[in-house]
Amino acid sequence: MKIDGNKNNSPFRIRKATPKDAGKTILFIKKVAKEHPFGFFESREFKVSVEEQKAYIRKMNRSRNSLFLIAEDASEIVGIGTIVGGSRKRNQHTGELSISISKKNYSKGIGTAILEAINDWAKLSPFIKRISLKVFADNRQAIAFYKKGGFIKEGCIRRGAFVEGRFIDVIIMGKVYL
Ligand SMILES: CC(C)(COP(=O)(O)OP(=O)(O)OC[C@H]1O[C@@H](n2cnc3c(N)ncnc32)[C@H](O)[C@@H]1OP(=O)(O)O)[C@@H](O)C(=O)NCCC(=O)NCCS
Repeated sequence: MKIDGNKNNSPFRIRKATPKDAGKTILFIKKVAKEHPFGFFESREFKVSVEEQKAYIRKMNRSRNSLFLIAEDASEIVGIGTIVGGSRKRNQHTGELSISISKKNYSKGIGTAILEAINDWAKLSPFIKRISLKVFADNRQAIAFYKKGGFIKEGCIRRGAFVEGRFIDVIIMGKVYL
């Protein structure tokens, strides 16, 4: 996968995860879940062992319609992007997207680089014809980000999430590959 630089010209690299990344990806996912209020689970709810995460990464890498990407700088993971492909004949052309960037690295172009890598992969994939995602309705930063990436708002799951005593609508966004 391509080597890229962010908006501040500091280099980062995007590559497929391997089972060796299991421990680091668990720590990263727990960290970003704590850092931002727009996640679909709480940090303490993510109880995945290193062995389970290794098996998950292996499964993702074996899958024809899934992808597990890592963005890293010289010292650490700065972002993760995944596509989880549909598991049935009738939805194997679809993938569910998730992107997380560590807070200190927001707005440096890393999310865009991950999305471009996913877009390139989807365009070449003989399977993927649609990518969708869910985002909290009050997550303006992410909605602007996905719109810029060509995603269209397709619907709203009213009260789709419950966070700290408050219901939040969840927006469904999608992009179709012809
Ligand atoms: C949303 C997210 C993935 C975007 O990634 P990023 O690396 O920060 O974004 P980029 O630097 O590539 O910016 C791309 C576009 O996103 C939007 N964006 C990024 N940061 C923004 C901000 N602080 N406010 C508003 N829009 C913003 C802009 O449209 C931007 O384009 P521009 O630079 O031309 O203005 C990232 O900020 C993130 O992980 N946020 C927290 C977790 C989250 O909300 N994940 C998505 C849940 S579904």
